[in-house]
Amino acid sequence: MGDDRTVHLKDYAPYPFLLHDVFLTFELHPENTRVESRLQFEHSTKDRDSIDLYGEALELVSVSLNGKALAAEEGYVIVKDSKVVGDVLRIKHLPPQTFTLEIVTKISPATNTTCEGLYQSSGNFCTQCEAEGFRRMTFFPDRPDVMSKYTTRIVADKSTNPVLLSNGNLIAQEELGDGKHSATWQDPFPKPSYLFALVAGKLVALEDAFTTCSGKKVDLKIWTTDKNKDKVGWAMESLKRAMKWDEDRWGREYDLNIFNIVVVDDFNMGAMENKSLNVFNSRLVLATPETATDSDYIHIQGVIGHEYFHNWTGNRVTCRDWFQLSLKEGLTVFRDQEFTSDLNSRLVKRIEDVQFLRQNQYPEDAGAMAHPVRPPSYEAIDNFYSCTVYEKGAEIIRMYETLLGKEGFRKGLDLYFERHDGQAVTCDDFYRAMMDANGYDGRNLFLWYQQAGTPTVELSSQYDEDKKTLTVRMEQQLPATADTSEEKQPMLIPVALGLLDSSGKEMALGRMSEDGAEAVDLGGVTTTVIRLMRKQQTFVFEGIPSRPVLSILRGFSAPVKIRSDRTEQDLMLLLSYDSDAYNRWDSAQTLAKEEILKAWRAGAGKAELRAEFIDAFRKVVADKNADKHFISQVLSFPSVSELLEEVGSTDPTAVFAARNAVEKSLAEALEREMLEVFTSNRSSEAYKVDNEGIGRRALMLTALRFLSSLNKPEHNERALKAFKEANNMTEQVGALRCLCKNDNELSRKALEDFYQQWKHDDLVLCQWLRIQAQMETPNNLDKVRRLLDHEAFDLKNPNKIYSLILAFSRTYTNFHAIDGSGYSFITDCILKLDKSNPQVASACTECFTSLRMYDDVRQQLLTAQLQRLAKEENLSGNVSEIVHKCLK
Ligand code: PHE
Ligand code: ZN
Repeated sequence: MGDDRTVHLKDYAPYPFLLHDVFLTFELHPENTRVESRLQFEHSTKDRDSIDLYGEALELVSVSLNGKALAAEEGYVIVKDSKVVGDVLRIKHLPPQTFTLEIVTKISPATNTTCEGLYQSSGNFCTQCEAEGFRRMTFFPDRPDVMSKYTTRIVADKSTNPVLLSNGNLIAQEELGDGKHSATWQDPFPKPSYLFALVAGKLVALEDAFTTCSGKKVDLKIWTTDKNKDKVGWAMESLKRAMKWDEDRWGREYDLNIFNIVVVDDFNMGAMENKSLNVFNSRLVLATPETATDSDYIHIQGVIGHEYFHNWTGNRVTCRDWFQLSLKEGLTVFRDQEFTSDLNSRLVKRIEDVQFLRQNQYPEDAGAMAHPVRPPSYEAIDNFYSCTVYEKGAEIIRMYETLLGKEGFRKGLDLYFERHDGQAVTCDDFYRAMMDANGYDGRNLFLWYQQAGTPTVELSSQYDEDKKTLTVRMEQQLPATADTSEEKQPMLIPVALGLLDSSGKEMALGRMSEDGAEAVDLGGVTTTVIRLMRKQQTFVFEGIPSRPVLSILRGFSAPVKIRSDRTEQDLMLLLSYDSDAYNRWDSAQTLAKEEILKAWRAGAGKAELRAEFIDAFRKVVADKNADKHFISQVLSFPSVSELLEEVGSTDPTAVFAARNAVEKSLAEALEREMLEVFTSNRSSEAYKVDNEGIGRRALMLTALRFLSSLNKPEHNERALKAFKEANNMTEQVGALRCLCKNDNELSRKALEDFYQQWKHDDLVLCQWLRIQAQMETPNNLDKVRRLLDHEAFDLKNPNKIYSLILAFSRTYTNFHAIDGSGYSFITDCILKLDKSNPQVASACTECFTSLRMYDDVRQQLLTAQLQRLAKEENLSGNVSEIVHKCLK
């Protein structure tokens, strides 16, 4: 097929030229920006007659080669290549060795609604180049394996654009006539085009400085519009923590004397790691206690860290091609997870990350867009900035660490930097550095990059009273996934295992043998990491004095599902006593899952809970010694998407109802305890983002959530009081959320008050939209429809779209309404959005990818809407890839 857009990893070929230096001049104008680019090329292996550059939505003004203007057709042609997004500018009759190209293009940032390339946000100019946005400014070898040194001159009207920024160092500034001025920036580090950035506009900076471990002073600036300048203090603090932590933990020092962060309101993603000029979505920078929640605070710190850490893992060592995206993203997510763990609570962070993975990545692996961490092919690369590439990718990195140990992992990372600094490399290169530094043979580990799907490890154990041996049999199952029909190979799965005796005490592990081989001495440790790498393996532990309870997959040592023959009593013992907090939490998850599925099977509106279940949770709620945040995590049941995976093709609203019923029944049974927890954790103390405060608020709000599920007047009044008295956004919005479990006078009034209080603050309004979009009360779609026309909404702003439209697509009662109204509403929205911003449109299309999880009627309804999308002419490549994969 000539117009097949699919790009394959196996077709990778190096770019046949070196591009040493890039000189850019931007003459900024909202509708008529002129971009002049001078490119100094060298043939790389053999001399070629022509060179291909990529461009999209450009007006080409002129092309010259070695100073001579070229005529169209004779000197260059514009051609189409189905594998290239946009157009290909092919320049002919190249001289041998080296040559210089000069290209002039015109673009219109003000009418660019895609948030890619050069665009305007709140009147300021900014760029977004990853993955293929650079080509929206000029024709260019816009691929990550072409690394060059950039010099960028920006010319702009001084009154509207007093601040002019780009990567690297400021090397010149000029006052020009006509009220114009210019700034020239030079980045000494070679980089691919996706790390380029330019910002111009009316901005003010919060300034600070950081002295690196070798004594170098780095100026830190966070740029924002005047009205937000008081909200960037936390981000600055986070940046300094990140710089320090990267030195302390990994020996990585910053490499320039300046580091800029720019805050923009219109941004498709979270943030972007452009060299020395990070660009951030405002929701990931701006924070005050009154406007941001605890999770916003922790998230901001994590993403500031993430983008900063990219300077080494992504920028200094970058990706050879976009198939290797996880090389930088998986590794950098792992680094930001560790950062948060070291600075805040390791146990809470680990559980949060597992929750996120199960709720988002497992469904992706089980859905129509399933892909390996390193996909072998794609149609639109934007669709692969996925939980699989990011979060599952981070789990792969964590498995290296689990297998090699902390020190071994550090040695591997050091070798990776030593070998590849300044290069564009692959996941294989990372793997090799890890193996070589440790003399390790992790053969089947690499399959984690190549095979999609969540493996299941089935585990059974037998205790021999006479021989005092425990035999553990493990088997791995690799599910079929939508991306391939190929048979899957067994992978290397590290399973961290411990044993508890019947009183909950850890047992010392002595000798262990595998499949009849010579036994090894584990030296009395209490956790051992078993390497499961064949389909089936059997392990025998000797000298186990009594029948143990198995604590499996400690710390979530691999991104798998566990099926085991452990009894409910075993799980309850683990919940109470396991030294591994992740496993305590996970035992509660399994218990809750069983209880919910039981209620679902019974199909009644009310769940009859067993006394043992209630008692287990009562003990957790009343535990005065446990970490409060941890208790609130134990009290958050598995998500509906997780439960659906367990039962397959069924009515999602019934599973949702069963989950609610169990919550409600538990609230009834533990009403007194919940009330006690709620009351004792209320506090009027000044807000502080520390573990204690965060934990207290999380637990207080969790108790309130349970109480609110009872829909009793006295609890609703409690929620209202908490809402009114809140001195911080965590409690205010948390209480509002509880109130909005029910659609009544109180919740309507609270929503109105909240709006009046915050109508000037777009980020807080996102919370307001989100809460309403996610109300599970009947006929909520009408409200969502009305909100589309509300002045608080803006169809041009990605954050607002995510808060209203995307949030709605993640609900049950209304999105999955059996009349299909939710599905057709989303489809209408996608069609509208696709014309202005395809990336945002495809994010909203993701809700279709789990269609096989639902009952037949819903599958048919969803299919009808997918067909409606497929029929649309000029559908973007982004949306069309998802639609066609869903319909396959
Ligand atoms: N590379 C960004 C990150 O740090 C994400 C991103 C991708 C931002 C594409 C914009 C566009 O994860
Ligand atoms: Zn990243």
